[in-house]
Amino acid sequence: MKSHQLVYQILARENDYVSGEKIGEELNLSRTSIWKAIQRLQHEGLEIDSIKNRGYKLIQGDLILPDLIQEKTNLTIHYKPETKSTQTDAKEGIEAGNQGNTLYLSTCQTAGRGRFQRPYYSPSQGGIYMSLHIQPNLPYEKLPSYTLLVAAAVYKAIKNLTMIEVDIKWVNDIYFKNKKIAGILTEAMTSVETGLVTDVIIGLGINFSIEDFPEDLKEKAGSLFMPPAPISRNELISEIWDCFYHTSSEELLYLYKQRSIVLGKEVYFTRNGTEEKGSALEISDTGQLQIELKNKNKIWINSGEVSLTKW
Ligand code: BTN
Repeated sequence: MKSHQLVYQILARENDYVSGEKIGEELNLSRTSIWKAIQRLQHEGLEIDSIKNRGYKLIQGDLILPDLIQEKTNLTIHYKPETKSTQTDAKEGIEAGNQGNTLYLSTCQTAGRGRFQRPYYSPSQGGIYMSLHIQPNLPYEKLPSYTLLVAAAVYKAIKNLTMIEVDIKWVNDIYFKNKKIAGILTEAMTSVETGLVTDVIIGLGINFSIEDFPEDLKEKAGSLFMPPAPISRNELISEIWDCFYHTSSEELLYLYKQRSIVLGKEVYFTRNGTEEKGSALEISDTGQLQIELKNKNKIWINSGEVSLTKW
């Protein structure tokens, strides 16, 4: 690990001021190196207080530690402090021959995107932006609904770490206190020769600890925490993928439905240019939503074509 990452780990573990001397002894670093490490951490957005004769104290913020996440999850981590989009990074990684079970991770995206090519707000402070590449090699019909599984893994991870219970809005949105705090974008690639889905990229963006949003998002977007966050992004990222890989699909699908904010509700959606409404009855394991229309007809709507406008 780099010096600033090691210094960060000491500050994150201590509740009080730690002297430069103590940090230096533990890491075998000079005072100047420690000072430089502190500067780097402050530059990366961490708030660190320093008092003469007492040392340094982490007030708020955290640092993404790819090595730590790699150790906890067994995933290969490709980290960039800033990127256009981790979805694009994953695609480039696949083209370069990178294997599956690789996580492309960043703390800032300049061209983050969501479903239907909508822009995804990805500021440099307080967000998590990551794309998991997996290689299922399955026919499309046999593919698990990864969006549902990841949404439930996000719910479970947050609950495990904080006891907070977030909600899930069909199909790919995580809500907390009636505001969207996370979104999932799943993209797949099929082999022309075999017809099998060879690669899947599951993109996940989380407003982890974002204090403010632009005017046009303020009403709808929220954040899991207001700074200072009680846990680190490293903990949450590791826990999410741990839940995703080590929880049965049955349990994750059960949790998804249990936390759904649309089941049993009247919902609005736009189909073929017309707004329709109905009652949300069921979510299939493949991710479709069953709606009972006013005329009592029951239809299944597909997340690739339709998103809910009101619920
Ligand atoms: C949505 O809300 O429609 C889905 C949002 C998905 C955003 C994530 S952030 C990481 C990855 N990179 C992207 O550009 N998009 C996904």
